[in-house]
Amino acid sequence: MHAALNTPLNEALGCKYPVIQTAMGWVSTSDLVSASIEAGAFGFLAAAVMTPEECEAEIKSIKSKSDRPFGVNIHAFQKGVDRIIDMCIDYDVAALSYGRGPSSKIVDKVKAAGLKCVPTIGAAKHAPKAVKMGADILVCQGQEGGGHTGYTPTWLLLAQVLDQDLGVPVIACGGFKDGRGLASALTFGADGIAMGTRFMMTSDSPTPDATKAKYLDSEVTKIPVSKKLDGMPQRMILNPLLDDLEKSSKLGMLLRGFSNGMKYKSQTGMSMVETVKAAWGMASKTDMTLGQTMMAGNAPMIIQKAMVEGKPDEGVLPSGQVAGLIDDLPNCQELLNSIISEAETRLKAVGA
Ligand SMILES: Cc1cc2nc3c(=O)[nH]c(=O)nc-3n(C[C@H](O)[C@H](O)[C@H](O)COP(=O)(O)O)c2cc1C
Repeated sequence: MHAALNTPLNEALGCKYPVIQTAMGWVSTSDLVSASIEAGAFGFLAAAVMTPEECEAEIKSIKSKSDRPFGVNIHAFQKGVDRIIDMCIDYDVAALSYGRGPSSKIVDKVKAAGLKCVPTIGAAKHAPKAVKMGADILVCQGQEGGGHTGYTPTWLLLAQVLDQDLGVPVIACGGFKDGRGLASALTFGADGIAMGTRFMMTSDSPTPDATKAKYLDSEVTKIPVSKKLDGMPQRMILNPLLDDLEKSSKLGMLLRGFSNGMKYKSQTGMSMVETVKAAWGMASKTDMTLGQTMMAGNAPMIIQKAMVEGKPDEGVLPSGQVAGLIDDLPNCQELLNSIISEAETRLKAVGA
């Protein structure tokens, strides 16, 4: 392997290649994580959408298929997060990833147990704060990245973070899919790349075929950012449902919120009155409207329509813009082999 492909990331996380498979709700399951780590990447299990019981079963499943290290992604405010963190410690998980920060008490606890802390940041000002709180590695996701995302393009964010010289490995994220991207990130000064969409678009991910077909058909300019789903900027493929949401007035959002609330009542276990009360409580604390807050409450169910049930037109499709450039579904091993060989070719060509 080209020496440049052995970076502080490989050493810190114990992976063969400087490539991270990021957490994606209902996508980065044990199937995808075990395949990505066996192929030489470092994979994160998307536990932010799991109960502690589901997370434990998934951790056990990964361990039954591979003895390579892997990480778990959490959301600081999810139900049962303390149990999931204890579980990560008990099962010797190698790293914890998160977005909006858990408390420094949690970070201190997992670090003391030997886990690496790997937050994702989307704005340069968050980098020093994350490191001060204990980050061992920083994943910098530029605006072209999938799911919730920021406003700074990947290369500009990377330059801003590298210029701060924070003393931890910095990983480029948002828009990567191949060896050219990896070689470019390394020559730019990063210690590796992290990819979401590209790993979803493998035959190892559990995303239903009908939904993958929509990603294969997508165009780079038709994967916009919208705040209409849960109030936060989220990049998704433009489908009729997202188009409708974008055009909805405040009243339209309220009606949608109500109708989704009725539709998903049995899944959330909340009555309509409880749903409205919870949404009202949240809306009064944020600048979101009641309709938007009710939509946010139902966002997980709407995403699952596409990502789990295989009904892409009835749900939304979180995606990086890079989906517009992806037209195949290799398995993780084929993907990693091609990324590494292309990166080596580019690095040698530049060296020559
Ligand atoms: C379908 C999908 C689901 C995602 N779910 C999560 C999640 O649960 N937690 C998280 O931290 N990031 C999530 N993300 C963001 C990814 O982990 C990753 O940061 C992003 O996709 C990187 O950009 P890329 O798609 O251009 O590689 C999701 C992204 C996608 C495409």
